[in-house]
Amino acid sequence: MPGLKAPSDYSQEPPRHPSLKINAKQPFNAEPPRSALIASYVTPVDFFYKRNHGPIPVVDDIERYSVLIRGLIDNPRELFVRDIKMLPKYNVTATLQCAGNRRTAMSKVKTVKGVGWDVSAIGNGVWGGAKLADVLELVGISKLTSTTKSGGKHVEFVSIDKCKEENGGPYKASIPLSRATNPDADVVIAYEMNGEPLNRDHGYPLRVVVPGVIGARSVKWLDCINIIAEESQGFFMQKDYKMFPPSVNWDNIDWSTSRPQMDFPVQSAICSLEDVTAIKPGKVKVSGYAASGGGRGIDRVDVSVDGGKTWVEAYRYQKPGAQYISDDMNSDKWAWVLFDVTVDAPQSTEIVVKAVDSAANIQPENVQEIWNLRGILNTSWHRVQVRVGHSNM
Ligand code: MTE
Repeated sequence: MPGLKAPSDYSQEPPRHPSLKINAKQPFNAEPPRSALIASYVTPVDFFYKRNHGPIPVVDDIERYSVLIRGLIDNPRELFVRDIKMLPKYNVTATLQCAGNRRTAMSKVKTVKGVGWDVSAIGNGVWGGAKLADVLELVGISKLTSTTKSGGKHVEFVSIDKCKEENGGPYKASIPLSRATNPDADVVIAYEMNGEPLNRDHGYPLRVVVPGVIGARSVKWLDCINIIAEESQGFFMQKDYKMFPPSVNWDNIDWSTSRPQMDFPVQSAICSLEDVTAIKPGKVKVSGYAASGGGRGIDRVDVSVDGGKTWVEAYRYQKPGAQYISDDMNSDKWAWVLFDVTVDAPQSTEIVVKAVDSAANIQPENVQEIWNLRGILNTSWHRVQVRVGHSNM
């Protein structure tokens, strides 16, 4: 790929914020402290989790950098950044969440494979770029197409980074063509994050953002787009990021029995408290995030101060000062909502949160029943302990 270099070592990694919790150094995987997530509705770039499967590529010549669109289409085309920037620009506010968010808690039930994450492998960004539906029109694929004349049904995004799991080949993932060509799905080829050019960690110069879908499909450092008949055969589509029942283990797994995960389920987490927090008796502020995939809004966030016996409803917002209403015209359908509620904690207890989305999906009570060998989609009720003491803390 002209203009893009894929280093095979980690010597050219960009600088990062010192408060990030590093879960793996090489490849670099890090998440912000919980408190950083509730400091603002839009997550600052510095505090946005970074999830990588290889070293971070370097663009040495942006003028020569291009994305090739090819495959089961009549007119393959090489697009430069200036071609993408000539299309109408959209700013899509969307929450990206790694399927491995909250994996560490799942691994406490039974070992799982994968980088450990607390509750912060999630962030809410404003992704500026062209809609993929508009980009695909440049190669003759009309809006709302689900099959091209030559049988293309999936859109594969191929990156430049070198991944061990792909035997040194690039990261890749695909989405159905019907989603890619649907302007309402808001899939973007982004060149900006929060109003600034994308930085290297997050995919400079171009990345895909697939709102409402696990982060693994939002391919960074885009190199080419293939229109293909079947879903991408890449490792991260076929041998990873699939959901299995607790009975499946590494001896009996048959990867072909499960589809690559797309939409993420309803999720919430408390970010104002750590797993165990010492407090004085009295009021405690419980705040955090809730999000659901597929564009479903959050209808309710329930908080319990007695381990889940009784519940109170938390206040929800996106824009500070305005109560969030699910599926309202003014709400960001792809974005999380932040919540807060002040509760009484006279003695040590377990504080719990669970969210309900607009399809009335509710988070499962326990992690045991959703345990899976790759440790993905831990959406069980999020529980934290407060230890109430009377001494100076
Ligand atoms: N794209 C490439 N090229 N390489 C990667 O390792 N990781 C994926 C996705 N896109 C990845 C990628 C995963 S698993 C996630 S969760 C998101 O990027 C993370 O995006 P972020 O680092 O910008 O937060």
